Amino acid sequence: MERTFLAIKPDGVQRGLVGEIIRRFETKGFTLVGLKFLKVSRELAEQHYDVHRERPFFAGLVEFITSSPVVAMVWEGDGVVASARKIIGATNPLTSEPGTIRGDFGINIGRNLIHGSDAPETAQKEIALWFKDEELVNWQPHLTPWLH
Ligand code: TYD
Repeated sequence: MERTFLAIKPDGVQRGLVGEIIRRFETKGFTLVGLKFLKVSRELAEQHYDVHRERPFFAGLVEFITSSPVVAMVWEGDGVVASARKIIGATNPLTSEPGTIRGDFGINIGRNLIHGSDAPETAQKEIALWFKDEELVNWQPHLTPWLH
């Protein structure tokens, strides 16, 4: 079953949007298999955003993501990687569609509330970076015909 890595960034936590953001993935019908609340180390932040190391916003991004706690999560379901990206919305909240998390709650590209893996291969790498195997729970909700 496909899995994706999502992280509610410091601005999402500071603004009290944790419940609202989790609700959107829960009510969509995806399954939560990993969840933790942590202050991100500089090392983890730099590894997570390694592809952006040469970009001008890299230092600010690492500074921000390590500035206060985040909620790290793994969600499971058919097509969850692409679907979660749709639920999250475009990178710049000023142009994300209303109805998406970033479109509904954000106005600043550097404060766009949530991270979501951009492809299944990236998701596997990010899950392995943020979670130990034993921190992920293998379970299935009781199947309901209107969800599955
Ligand atoms: P990116 O992986 O392009 O976006 P996404 O989070 O939608 O996958 O960029 C990672 C983060 O870097 C992005 O969420 C916010 C930050 N960022 C900036 O601060 N300025 C920028 O110009 C870009 C492209 C990203």
